[in-house]
Amino acid sequence: MSQKTAIYPGFFDPITNGHLSIVNRGLQIFDNLVIAILNNPQKAPLFSINERIFMIKEAVKDKLNVEVDTFDGLLVDYAVKKNSNVILRGLRALSDFEYEFQMALMNRKLDRNIQSLFLMTDYKWFYTSSTIIKEAASFGGDVSGLVPEVVNCKLKEKFAPSKNT
Ligand code: PNS
Repeated sequence: MSQKTAIYPGFFDPITNGHLSIVNRGLQIFDNLVIAILNNPQKAPLFSINERIFMIKEAVKDKLNVEVDTFDGLLVDYAVKKNSNVILRGLRALSDFEYEFQMALMNRKLDRNIQSLFLMTDYKWFYTSSTIIKEAASFGGDVSGLVPEVVNCKLKEKFAPSKNT
C-alpha cells in the first residue's frame, strides 16, 4: 500500500504545544508528515530559520515519520514536489476560520488536486498562539507548558535581560 504524506505548513515562530498536538493527531491519519516552515525573508521573525528548524527537530525527535523542511514560493507547488496532495492545518477559535477558508480556497484555485484538511486544536491550546506566547515571554511571563522545553529555553535566552543595561 502506498504511503500517505501530509504537509503541515506554517511560520512556526516558534513551534508551540498546540502545533505539536496537530502533529500528533495528524500522525494518526497519515503515514508521514512534513513540517514545512515558510522561509519568508519579508517577515521579521523572532527566531531565524535555523533556530526554528533546530527547535522543531528537537521537539519531534522521537517521531520517526516526521520530516522538518523549509519552503518558499507557493505551498501547493511545494506539496507537489513532496508527492503530497494534503495540506494539514489546525483550527482554533472561530477567528481562525476566515483566514484559513481564504487560504484553502486560494490553494484550491491554484491546484485542484490539493486538499486542505483541518483538525480542531485541542481545547487546551485554543487561545494560545506563537504571537501571544512571544509577547508573554518578552515581559518575563512563564510560558512553560505552552511550548516544548527547548522553545521555553530559547525564549528565555532571547528575552534575558541584557547584562550591560
Ligand atoms: O503559520 P502561518 O503564518 O499561519 O502559516 C501561513 C502559511 C505559511 C501556511 C501561508 O502563508 C503559506 O502557505 N504561504 C506560502 C505562499 C502561498 O502559497 N500563498 C498562497 C496561498 S495563501
